[in-house]
Amino acid sequence: MAMMKAALCREYGPPENVRIEQIAKPEPKPDEVLIRIRATTVSSGDWRVRTLTVPRGMGIMVRAVFGFTRPRNPILGTELAGEIEAVGKDVTNFRIGETVIGYPSFPNGCHAEYRTMRESDRIVAKPARLSYEEAAALCFGGATALDFLRDRAKLQTGEHLLVIGASGTLGSAAVQLAKHFGAHVTGICSAANVELVRSIGADRVIDYTCEDYRNGGETYDVIFDAVGVASFRTHETFLKPNGRLLLLAAGLHEMLEAIGAKRDGKRVFSGPAKERLEHLTVLAGLAESGAYRPVIDQVFPFERIADAHARVETGRKRGSVVVTVDQDKD
Ligand SMILES: NC(=O)c1ccc[n+]([C@@H]2O[C@H](COP(=O)([O-])OP(=O)(O)OC[C@H]3O[C@@H](n4cnc5c(N)ncnc54)[C@H](OP(=O)(O)O)[C@@H]3O)[C@@H](O)[C@H]2O)c1
Repeated sequence: MAMMKAALCREYGPPENVRIEQIAKPEPKPDEVLIRIRATTVSSGDWRVRTLTVPRGMGIMVRAVFGFTRPRNPILGTELAGEIEAVGKDVTNFRIGETVIGYPSFPNGCHAEYRTMRESDRIVAKPARLSYEEAAALCFGGATALDFLRDRAKLQTGEHLLVIGASGTLGSAAVQLAKHFGAHVTGICSAANVELVRSIGADRVIDYTCEDYRNGGETYDVIFDAVGVASFRTHETFLKPNGRLLLLAAGLHEMLEAIGAKRDGKRVFSGPAKERLEHLTVLAGLAESGAYRPVIDQVFPFERIADAHARVETGRKRGSVVVTVDQDKD
């Protein structure tokens, strides 16, 4: 039987719980492709699943999905970049050797040398302009930001957007996409990340260590909270009439409070992002044109994937933590 290396998290807990093992290499079914993974990310989602650190009130729901006592699917990893190594007999959209980006449906399973995906799942051609490392980091932040900013908030040209957590994976994607949509963007980050947030297009950057955005008297059409500090009760006054509050990391309490919160046409959006192939197509197009480039924090080789988890767990990463899967070296 052909074997491959994969990083398995068999017990919830610290980064050391993620260990590389040899397991059976998957074989594509008739409607599947086999992708040789070149790079993947350790996302904040992987950290949440590994540690069961979830927003307040969400614990039972998360255990129900991911496994009550241990991870039901021990291979984490939400996104990948690589090349098609084999195709099932019914596959028509992809060819062997084609370079692709994948954002698989649950279970994610991208922390491995190989993954099979149905050809109808979320796979797009890798933009030539992006390295494998950048391509692997296209989706988790980009697709989430696109869903919340474009599909839910319907962000318009000229509107004012506040991004809380502008230096993280979601925040750095939100800043770039909002600029592409013609919005005026204010980003909140710490001093160390001010230059980064400015460099990806923010019109105004507020260093939260020396200035509180709540004291400036500003109001916004859209607030994108990627940190989990806002609720309708605390942030309604910072929204303009018809403003939209996007709670990316809301707990159950903030979500329940948001139901029916609609004064002055103001609305709240929260919950998991919808994940659609069209998001990848749009993101790949923007990457190809140079309008969107995933921000990379650090790149780790596959054998150091536990260190990559530890870096994500600090909560201080800038953009995405990438793991390269170099089968000739690992
Ligand atoms: N709803 C959904 O569908 C969905 C999808 C994906 C992720 N999420 C959630 O969205 C959240 C963000 O994910 P992520 O991957 O973007 O996280 P991340 O990359 O780990 O965020 C880290 C960044 O947050 C910044 N930060 C921390 N505290 C801050 C504060 N008080 N004010 C401003 N910036 C602060 C840090 O900058 P400093 O070091 O400078 O503070 C760092 O750059 C997570 O809770 C994740 O679970 C939700």
